[in-house]
Amino acid sequence: MANIVIVFDSLRGNTKRVVDVMSELFTAAGHEVKAVKAKEAEVADAEAADALLLGGPTYHKDLMNTMKQVLFKLEKADLKGKPGAAFASFGWSGESLAIVEDTMKNLYEMNLVADGIKVKQTPVSAKVKKEVEPFVQKIIEAL
Ligand SMILES: Cc1cc2nc3c(=O)[nH]c(=O)nc-3n(C[C@H](O)[C@H](O)[C@H](O)COP(=O)(O)O)c2cc1C
Repeated sequence: MANIVIVFDSLRGNTKRVVDVMSELFTAAGHEVKAVKAKEAEVADAEAADALLLGGPTYHKDLMNTMKQVLFKLEKADLKGKPGAAFASFGWSGESLAIVEDTMKNLYEMNLVADGIKVKQTPVSAKVKKEVEPFVQKIIEAL
C-alpha cells in the first residue's frame, strides 16, 4: 500500500472532481490518498508521499496564485527522485499543466512517472474517470 499525496486547488469544482475521481481509483487499488488544498499543504505532506501529484486549473492562461505559492513552499521539501505527476483541469488551452510539470521536473528534480494530464472541464465524473484511468494506472505501476 502506497501513500499518495495530491496537492491541488479548484475555484469552481472541476479540478476537485478530477482529484475525487483519482482518489477513488487509487483507493480502489488499495492505496491511501491524502488530498490537500494548496493553502493547507505542508512540506511534511509532500515529503511523506510515496507519490506526489500536483495540479490546478488554468485561469487567463496562467496557474492560480495559491498553486504558485505552494510551488514556492515545496521548494523547501526534499523531493529529488520522488515519484510523481502533474495534472490539470482546463477549458481551451490549459497552460497550468506545463507550469506545474516543469517545476516538478526542473526545480524539484522529481521522477515524473506519467506524462501530465489535462482534463477538459465537465460536470460528468464518468467522463473524467475515462480520461484519468490510464494516468492513474501508470502511476500505480510505477510504485
Ligand atoms: C474567467 C475564466 C478564465 C479562464 N481562462 C482559461 C484559460 O486561459 N485557458 C483555459 O484552458 N481555460 C480557462 N478557463 C477554464 C477553466 O480552466 C476551467 O473551467 C477549469 O475546469 C476550472 O477549474 P476549477 O473548477 O477547478 O477552478 C477559464 C475560466 C474562467 C471562468
